[in-house]
Amino acid sequence: MIANRKDDHVRFAAEQQRGLGGHNQFDDVSFVHHALAGIDRSEVSLATRFGGIEWPVPLCINAMTGGSVRTGVINRDLAIAARETGVPIATGSMSAYFADERVAGTFSVMRRENPDGFIMANVNATASVEKARRAIDLLEADALQIHLNIIQETVMPEGDRSFALWGPRIEEIVAGVDVPVIVKEVGFGLSRETLLRLQEMGVRVADVAGRGGTNFARIENDRRDRADYSYLNGWGQSAPACLLDAQGAGIPVLASGGVRNPLDVVRALALGASAVGVSGLFLRTVLDGGVPALISLISAWLDQLEALMTALGARTPADLTRCDMLVDGELRAFCAERGIETRRLATRARSYGITHETFGGTR
Ligand code: FNR
Repeated sequence: MIANRKDDHVRFAAEQQRGLGGHNQFDDVSFVHHALAGIDRSEVSLATRFGGIEWPVPLCINAMTGGSVRTGVINRDLAIAARETGVPIATGSMSAYFADERVAGTFSVMRRENPDGFIMANVNATASVEKARRAIDLLEADALQIHLNIIQETVMPEGDRSFALWGPRIEEIVAGVDVPVIVKEVGFGLSRETLLRLQEMGVRVADVAGRGGTNFARIENDRRDRADYSYLNGWGQSAPACLLDAQGAGIPVLASGGVRNPLDVVRALALGASAVGVSGLFLRTVLDGGVPALISLISAWLDQLEALMTALGARTPADLTRCDMLVDGELRAFCAERGIETRRLATRARSYGITHETFGGTR
C-alpha cells in the first residue's frame, strides 16, 4: 500500500507541475536596482553555512521519494544528478523502509550513486529514535530531515489522525541522533511560532517548505474517490511569507516550496534563507528528460545564481541579505496583518554604509 502511495505522489506531483510556473508570492518580492552594485564574478562564492552544516552551493534536491521499484529508479537518477552537480539531496520519507526492509535498496541507492555527496535521510514526526538512527545508518546520512505534514495527513484517506506527540518525538530524536536535524514542512509553511518552538526543542535548522509549488492537499484530494477536502487547496503560507515571518526568530531557515528559477533562489536567500530546496520541478525535469536534463538544469541554475549575485554585489549567499528589496501584493498584506515591518528592507543596504557608488567595494 505504501509503494502504491509513493507512485501516486510522483504521478500527481509531476502532473501538477504542468499547471505551475504562473504567479506565486515570489513575484511579490523584487530587488531595488542599483546600477553600480556589481562586483567581479571571480569574487563570488556559492558556499553556505548554517546550523553547523556547510554546503558548497545554496541549493538542494529536496525530499521526495523511495519505497517502490519505480521510485527507486527515480532516487537513483536524482542521486546521479546530485553527484554530477554537487548539490545536496534528500530522500523521501523512509516509513516504507520501516514497514518492509526489502525496499531498503530504493533509498540506499542514493548513497551508492553518490558516495561523497551530502545526503539527508527523511522520517516523519512519529518515528522513534531507533528508527531515526536506522534511517541515518542506511544512507550514511549527513543530516536527518523530519517532516511535518499535518494537512497532508488530514486529507490523506489513510493518513494519521494523532498529532499531539509530534513535539516530544522531535525532542527525543534531536537528543538521540548524532547528525544535525532539519525539521521541514511539505508545502504548507512554518510560522514564526512554530520556528520558535522548534528552536526550543534543539532543532538546528528548519525548512519552511511553503505553499505555491507542490500542493499535497490537492494531491491527497486527487487520491480520494470524492475530493472531499478541495476547500483546503489554498491552505498555508508561501515560502517568502514564512521567511519574512521568520526574521529574527534565531533559527537558521531553508526555503522551499514553489521555487521556479534562479531568481526565486536569490529572492529567498535575500529574505534570509541559508539555502533553497526544489522538489516538484526537478522531479518533472528528470521524468521528462532523464538525468542529462536535470544535470543541465541544475548546472544552468548554479551558473545563473553566480551571475545574479555578481550583479547584485553579493560575494556570498549571506551578503544577499543586505540587498534592498521591495515587498508587494498579497505578501505585503500578509506582513501587515502579522505586524512585519517591510519598509526597512527597501533601504537596508544603507545601514551597512553601502551607497550606490561603493556598494561593490564594501564588505
Ligand atoms: C514531496 N515532499 C516530501 N517531503 C518530505 O519531507 N518527505 C516526503 O516523503 C516527501 N514526499 C514528496 C513526494 C513528492 C513526489 C514531492 C514532489 C514532494 C515535499 C517536498 O520536499 C517539498 O517540501 C514540497 O514539494 C514543496 O517543494 P516544491 O515541490 O514546490 O519545490
